[in-house]
Amino acid sequence: MSMYPETRPRRMRRDDFSRRLMREHQLTTDDLIYPVFVTEGEQQREAVGSMPGVERVSLDLLLEVAQDCVNLGIPVMALFPVIDPALKTPDGIEAANPDGLIPRVVRALKARFPELGIMTDVALDPYTSHGQDGVLDDDGYVLNDETVAILVQQALTQAAAGVDIVAPSDMMDGRIGAVRHALETHGHIYTRIMAYSAKYASAFYGPFRDAVGSAANLGKGNKMTYQMDPSNTDEALREVGLDIAEGADMVMVKPGMPYLDVVRRVKDEFRFPTYAYQVSGEYAMLKAAAQNGWLDHDKVMMESLLAFKRAGADGILTYFARDAARLLRK
Ligand code: PBG
Repeated sequence: MSMYPETRPRRMRRDDFSRRLMREHQLTTDDLIYPVFVTEGEQQREAVGSMPGVERVSLDLLLEVAQDCVNLGIPVMALFPVIDPALKTPDGIEAANPDGLIPRVVRALKARFPELGIMTDVALDPYTSHGQDGVLDDDGYVLNDETVAILVQQALTQAAAGVDIVAPSDMMDGRIGAVRHALETHGHIYTRIMAYSAKYASAFYGPFRDAVGSAANLGKGNKMTYQMDPSNTDEALREVGLDIAEGADMVMVKPGMPYLDVVRRVKDEFRFPTYAYQVSGEYAMLKAAAQNGWLDHDKVMMESLLAFKRAGADGILTYFARDAARLLRK
């Protein structure tokens, strides 16, 4: 009688062929959505200090980025605007300007690259003088229904410009239903809605707020009266359930890596197209460690993205999208 186990899980791990044969989850380029920051002007290229490798670029240079995404087979690019501070107002109404930065960029991208999916953020924070995602009452509280009315105008403006996916990231109540109803009644029946359904009031968004230039406006303010408390997961399921009932085509959990438990619960509960956002702070911490030589850049990047697949995500918004797609091609 052997004193050793007859069940040896290491047998299947011994060789590359059997490791490949029992692999359960795989990341592909089809899983990637690439977020980009776009600014006014021509030949404008500014590095985002807290996000190594990420730049704010003007439309002419963004066309080259889009071409690269097409070449790499990345299905979707997500646009975030850097708005001229002179255009920011308390109600952020520039968000609904049909000749504003985002509609112009959407029209140019769709004309040049019709096959590349384009997604736009529906939220007021890049446009408000106070950096909040909505309009405020006298006490500084973000008003729900007044904000939704502007978000609907913003989404309609983006849809009219030809965007493929609108992505409300504001966390107002009822906004998915309001946007869906407006899209339907204006004939935009193919515009998809990616709902930022379970979006947490997270400190991991810091570098993004630097990138779009809303950090200074927001100051010491926070978004806890509309974004979710990091303590909760049942609440995430209620939010996702509402957004699906109101007409979302896809739902999202955000941030990503610290919230993979939420991704798994959402996927198990609803079996609906589910996405996760590996946000700016997650990107920044991996980049910083890699730059210091503390972590292997490519390995942690791929491992972190695979973790989203394991948690049940159908796709990932990630600033690593082009780097990962390049590696996947090899
Ligand atoms: C705006 C918005 C934010 C992000 C995406 N859309 C910031 C925020 O809610 O303050 C964060 C993305 C990131 O950190 O990478 N509503």
